[in-house]
Amino acid sequence: MSHVLLIGFMGAGKSTVGRLLAESLDRPFVDLDDAVEQAAGMPVSMIFEDLGEDRFRMLETEALRALIDAPPSVVACGGGVVVRDENRALLGSLGAVVYLKVSAGESIARISDTSSRPLLAGPGAALAATSLLAAREALYSAVADISVDTEGSGPGQIAQFVQDALEDA
Ligand code: S3P
Repeated sequence: MSHVLLIGFMGAGKSTVGRLLAESLDRPFVDLDDAVEQAAGMPVSMIFEDLGEDRFRMLETEALRALIDAPPSVVACGGGVVVRDENRALLGSLGAVVYLKVSAGESIARISDTSSRPLLAGPGAALAATSLLAAREALYSAVADISVDTEGSGPGQIAQFVQDALEDA
């Protein structure tokens, strides 16, 4: 099997579930935001602030492209990875794409410190989450091979569900 790529909105639990899944599949875990931060030498929030969202999206695409030559891994993608056409095509060719679903309200409830998420920082976080998620929902679903509702389940249960679904696929 090639990569397993976790997509979904901020707060869906991609990194937490991804780490558990990687451990249980005995594969490397890659966090795409970490890869972008390493390439830029600064945190995501500073990339947005100093270089702008477009530059962040370019770095994100480069980090995704780098997976072409990486050993089969479990990859937690940033919530906006589906926005670029090129990324959606890349995701489809890199492996099994798993959409972890979360509502806008639950996303905000799970993210205790929105300052590390520049698109949700500030007082309008709930409204921003609602409109961003509405704009992206169809993109997540279109690119996903497997979709999982994360509400009401813990990360361990979700990781197990994804593992079972991958085995059945
Ligand atoms: C973003 C999600 C973040 C990070 C950046 C932009 C988005 O990742 O890539 O702040 O556009 O939804 P997480 O989904 O891991 O929080």
